[in-house]
Amino acid sequence: MEKKVLSVVDKRTGLSYELPIEKGAIRASDLRQIKTDSEDFGMMSYDPAFLNTAACQSAITFIDGDKGILRYRGYPIEQLAEKCTFLEVAYLILNGELPTELQLKSFVAEITHHTMLHETTKRFLEGFHHDAHPMGMFISTVAALSTIYPDAKNVHDPEVRKLQIHRLIGKVPTIAAYAHRNSLGYPYVYPDNDLSYTENFMNMLWKMVEPKYRANPVLARALDILFILHADHEQNCSANVMRAVGSSQADPFACTAAAAAALSGPLHGGANEEVLKMLDEIGSKDNVRGFIEKIKAGHGKLMGFGHRIYKNYDPRARIIKWAADQVFVATGRNPKLDIALELEKIALEDEYFIQRKLYPNVDFYSGIIYQALGFKPEMFTVLFAIPRTVGWLAQWQEMLQDPEQKIARPRQIYTGYDVREFVPIEKRTARAVAAAR
Ligand code: SDX
Repeated sequence: MEKKVLSVVDKRTGLSYELPIEKGAIRASDLRQIKTDSEDFGMMSYDPAFLNTAACQSAITFIDGDKGILRYRGYPIEQLAEKCTFLEVAYLILNGELPTELQLKSFVAEITHHTMLHETTKRFLEGFHHDAHPMGMFISTVAALSTIYPDAKNVHDPEVRKLQIHRLIGKVPTIAAYAHRNSLGYPYVYPDNDLSYTENFMNMLWKMVEPKYRANPVLARALDILFILHADHEQNCSANVMRAVGSSQADPFACTAAAAAALSGPLHGGANEEVLKMLDEIGSKDNVRGFIEKIKAGHGKLMGFGHRIYKNYDPRARIIKWAADQVFVATGRNPKLDIALELEKIALEDEYFIQRKLYPNVDFYSGIIYQALGFKPEMFTVLFAIPRTVGWLAQWQEMLQDPEQKIARPRQIYTGYDVREFVPIEKRTARAVAAAR
């Protein structure tokens, strides 16, 4: 059997090296033996934005971007979306196995009993400006929870970790709902433990003066499926942040707030809100061709299209399209869907998008459903953050339990000045300062 090694020859020295290949990769640290002399630090790999760098080994989520495959712990996303509830999938992602009936019952009870927020958190939320973006409120309030649960810093105690994980999964819908109610000037609605995770979220969002909130089961199921689809996605930008911040042994509330901050960017989880703005800008199906020509000319991006990993249709987008049809039966068809479908049709036939393997991603259709469910675009990324909290926490826990992981601290290739003498201020010239810009 051929040895699994990569043989490299350094033409600078004529020396050759054998680098072991494990699971299709070489260890970057094995490159350090490649030196030109004893003073040499050794070879590094250079990979801005980690286009081709595995930062960890993980057993949580598998994606095959060319085939459009997504699996949580080996189970195809299509089967989980069809047959599970969100909390059942949350248990799978966190624990590695689908729960038994008893395990699920106990997990749901745990999460249900952590949905309340400490009363001071409500006053914290009321400190925001009336038109504060709910994602900014979400990020800040999740971070503030670390001041309420100082025990969370004991990240190496499995029972402490489990308690914080249950607290975060239970509380993120409450924070989201309170941010929404705060923006409308409505009183907060306390959690109702009789309701499912998603129905309770809808209760805290939309209950008015009726004695008991009754969720539309079609809408509740659609939201539950959307939560399942958004729960994890291996080493995406925000999961990378969760792992990096967690590697310094910061508490899980601070880590989750940092990950949510990464998600808020328009190239990541903020894209679903940008898609709605883009559809509003296009205005009608007739304007789609002209808009696509603008994109091809380099004026902006087709939001909700493209993906670092998927070079095929994002399987989540396909399921979301199906869920949209179920929602529209109950809510009436969102006219923006017609613009989105025309945009997809034209883009998928256009060489510019075909050549770059740009397909609709999870964010392309999700906003259209959220809007039909009654959410404002500002809430869309918060709706992404709620379920993704489960994925972030699973990645965080796996990182802490990985004996190979330590504090994340990348190296750099230095391109600045070599050593130089200090210049007294009276001798500095504007030219030098301009050059320094
Ligand atoms: C999410 O990582 C994850 O898993 C993320 C996520 C998750 O579940 O966590 O799946 C969620 O973030 C989905 C992505 C949401 N973002 C958007 O929809 C924003 C629009 N998409 C792009 O910004 C872009 O496609 C990214 C950011 C998603 C991916 O960017 P890459 O992998 O860095 O690709 P790239 O920018 O190098 O693009 C390659 C080429 C470029 O053209 P050239 O310079 O080669 O001529 O494709 C072009 C890009 O200009 N391109 C686009 C485009 N996306 C890429 N052109 C027009 N419209 C787009 N959307």
